[in-house]
Amino acid sequence: MALHRGAMHPLICISISCFLPLALMRNVDSPLDCVPRRYVPYHSDNGHLFREEAVSNYTVMLLREDVNLLLLGAREVVYALDLDDISKKRASVKWEVTQQQKDDCKIKVRDPETQCKNFIKILHRIEDDMMYVCGTNAFDPECDYMSYKNGELTLAQAGEDGKGKCPFNPFQRHASLMVDDNLYSATSINFLGSELVLMRSSPPIRTEIKTSWLNEPNFVSLVQMPESDQGNDDKVYLFFSETAVEYDCYKKPVVVSRVARVCKNDLGGTRTLQRKWTSFLKARLECPVPGSQLPNIIQNTYLWCDPQKHWKECVFYAIFIPQSDTSEVSAVCAYSVSDVNRVFAEGQFKTLVRVETSYIWVAYSGDVPDPRPGSCQTESMDLPDQTLLFIKDRPLMDDVIQPIGEKTLLERRGAAFTSIVVNQVQATDGRIYHVMFIGTADGTLLKAVNYDGEMFIIEQVQLFQSPEVIKVLQFSNVTGQLYAGSDYGVVQVPLATCKRSLSCMDCILARDPYCGWDSEAGSCVALSSTQRRLIQSVREGDASLCPTTDSVHVVNKSFLAGGSVKLPCPSMSNLATTDWEQDGHRVAPSLRHQLLKDGLLILNATDSDAGLYRCLSAERSKADKYTATVAQYQLSVKGEPRIPQAQRKGPSVVGLQVAIGLLTVSLVALLAWNFYNGHLPLPWNCSRKMGGKSYESNTQEDPGPL
Ligand SMILES: *[C@@H]1O[C@H](CO)[C@@H](O)[C@H](O)[C@H]1NC(C)=O
Ligand SMILES: *[C@@H]1O[C@H](CO)[C@@H](O)[C@H](O)[C@H]1NC(C)=O
Repeated sequence: MALHRGAMHPLICISISCFLPLALMRNVDSPLDCVPRRYVPYHSDNGHLFREEAVSNYTVMLLREDVNLLLLGAREVVYALDLDDISKKRASVKWEVTQQQKDDCKIKVRDPETQCKNFIKILHRIEDDMMYVCGTNAFDPECDYMSYKNGELTLAQAGEDGKGKCPFNPFQRHASLMVDDNLYSATSINFLGSELVLMRSSPPIRTEIKTSWLNEPNFVSLVQMPESDQGNDDKVYLFFSETAVEYDCYKKPVVVSRVARVCKNDLGGTRTLQRKWTSFLKARLECPVPGSQLPNIIQNTYLWCDPQKHWKECVFYAIFIPQSDTSEVSAVCAYSVSDVNRVFAEGQFKTLVRVETSYIWVAYSGDVPDPRPGSCQTESMDLPDQTLLFIKDRPLMDDVIQPIGEKTLLERRGAAFTSIVVNQVQATDGRIYHVMFIGTADGTLLKAVNYDGEMFIIEQVQLFQSPEVIKVLQFSNVTGQLYAGSDYGVVQVPLATCKRSLSCMDCILARDPYCGWDSEAGSCVALSSTQRRLIQSVREGDASLCPTTDSVHVVNKSFLAGGSVKLPCPSMSNLATTDWEQDGHRVAPSLRHQLLKDGLLILNATDSDAGLYRCLSAERSKADKYTATVAQYQLSVKGEPRIPQAQRKGPSVVGLQVAIGLLTVSLVALLAWNFYNGHLPLPWNCSRKMGGKSYESNTQEDPGPL
């Protein structure tokens, strides 16, 4: 059946308008600009950094917790780094392209200097502690086997063809997954990058090259789901975005987000769909951001499963960015695996029908063949032709997969989200919380939790000194550390950073489920680090649980009359407001008293400014509003504060000022006289150099203002 793109029909336009009502249904007070409670600027102590001179594109990682290594693929090199401290390099192996490969590539590629290199894109663990590595290899993708023995990384130089496994073009998005030593990959199989497939290496099987299967896709991730409690039912899920075939009423093509799935036991058909997936089905993923009129585009996913629970309780977390340039809102949506499963197992299919002169996609209302297309229960070789022909033409489900609660979990305006990791932690209240770590395009990491529908961003940490796109984010539950890779380098940071809170109030109001206040030690510590009872109130932020705080010690500070003085009081929280008191009276902001973000600035200080200053920080949480003294200063005039002395000092300063003033005036007069007579060239006057006379009058006017 041929596909007619560009067809316009009222029916399709009706279906696309469905995006809008959903957006309007949302309550208006949704926290679109949920502000992180704390901004943590870049600091080398934030985490360990690894990078090497002249090496870039650190964009693929493999955690080897068994040997305590982080395997890291960059441009033309693979590293083995210490998982506890990635700044310690254990080994590395180069994989460069040959001169011949470079020359071949140069003829074909527009930008040979940057692209005719070997960008390592695939790193997986396989049997016998070996690893499988693939690189773009100057637009001639190749795969190899790698081992780590006696502290050395070695490539076997097997020279395996990487077509369909690894992209040709280092900029093209791809996905790969190793399941039982079998590589699943979603990438291009041709040099131009125009033939894109989802394939399994052995027995080899792939998608049809048809726009109804994959239409200019951008691959995001591959995930396996062990669903075998229902027989031979394990599946592999593919997340991607593509140009929609089903919505065609826009001038510009609409891109939609999708999830597709295949059966692990699929061997292809016997006649129809030979060596092609007989189980490939896909559905649209909705992530409704209020105000966005075009569907949002999926960027990254994280499969979260509780090992104690049934696979249907697993959750796919996914991040989305806007399709149009006019919006800057990124979002997180979560999908229950059972919802996804239901759409594929029970939902309606879409089918192409002819309406007047064009073809459109509508819900298929006829009989669905038995066995149902896309179920893994029957051996694919035994599937009747009827089932195969059905799925060949109708891989798209009519039902759309909605996120949990039919709304986003988190939205934020600003740098685009690029990556996500979700970790669970049991708080002192006994409940388990999912903490999201989100990497962005400007090198920041957000840490956010959803407390009963209330989204709370604990902090935003600047991981890299300059804004770098975080391209890969991984988490080790053995080290409790996150690893973020960019073109520039890799940074390792801990999940829990409780030490950033110095007071009990700050520790509680941070509402970080990893952290609690240790009253005995007087510090904010990680739950995992102690057996002691800690104070924590993540859902309410109830700081009244804190022991009555001892008063903040008073810092002595003095100033010169007429000078300026700054009393520092850095705010620990973006959600807090700061007030200052002088001897118990509120300091009103004025020209002389400037309330800065990080302190109080007193200009042209006088004797009346001496006194006891308190910096008060007030922060509202769900439970209440809490005020605490954050800093105290005893401010006094420098020297003996006796008034006669100050008076004696006054005239002498004035005298000096008068002398300097007189001197300056005479100097200026002298200079002006010289300029006027042309003894000295005026530095800002270019008329002489230009040789023109038109500016000459300026030379005479200039001394005027002096
Ligand atoms: C590799 O890194 C450099 C920056 O060091 C960047 O300009 C380039 O776009 C990156 N290439 C790819 C394929 O990501
Ligand atoms: C976490 O680590 C343990 C080993 O300490 C491992 O058995 C388990 O599978 C890991 N869990 C996840 C979700 O990665």
